[in-house]
Amino acid sequence: MFIAFEGIDGCGKSTLLENLALKLSSASRSYVKTREPGGSSLGSLIRTELLSLKRTLTPQSELLLFLADRSQHVLELIRPGLAQNKVVLCDRYIASTLAYQRNSSGLSPDKLKELNQWATGELEPDLYIYIDLSAEQAQRRRAQMENDRMEAKGLAFQKEVRQHYLDLAQEKNWLSLDGQLSPTELCDQAWSHIQSMLP
Ligand code: TYD
Repeated sequence: MFIAFEGIDGCGKSTLLENLALKLSSASRSYVKTREPGGSSLGSLIRTELLSLKRTLTPQSELLLFLADRSQHVLELIRPGLAQNKVVLCDRYIASTLAYQRNSSGLSPDKLKELNQWATGELEPDLYIYIDLSAEQAQRRRAQMENDRMEAKGLAFQKEVRQHYLDLAQEKNWLSLDGQLSPTELCDQAWSHIQSMLP
């Protein structure tokens, strides 16, 4: 089973992923935890460049680097994990590109989906877990943290990204959770959904 975690910066998805990994361990299910950008060895180099505040990227190179990272990640980590019957827990996947690069790329959602299908050999997650939180609340949570290049794009950008997520979350393989819930409540809701899907 392939599960991707999505939401704006500061929504709490990485904490949820960690808590669900603990649930899987207690249920004796093997899993892989991974993330985008990053995950593969090339991916960690790409991540450094994509998130560096020193880097000015054209929208085209930003998009292509996220796609290159994903393509390598699918080949090196996600597909092998699935082939070994592991639950793959992935912090961000295609939906992040559809939400974050949608406006800057100037490409239609269909074109962006097509490029992602090309990069991944059409590998879709079984489930997207989306944590919805307002950009203002997420910003308050992140107040003490340093911004990377994407986070430095500011509040208006995070609001646009959230709006794209809300549209995407209408699709059938999405579970939307309220980011104002406690970490335990979020984990319980996600876990009962995952249990209903696990073979
Ligand atoms: P993330 O690892 O969630 O950030 P952090 O480690 O700071 O919690 O994601 C890194 C950033 O990359 C985040 O701002 C979202 C952005 N991103 C895109 O813009 N497009 C993409 O396709 C992906 C995977 C991430």
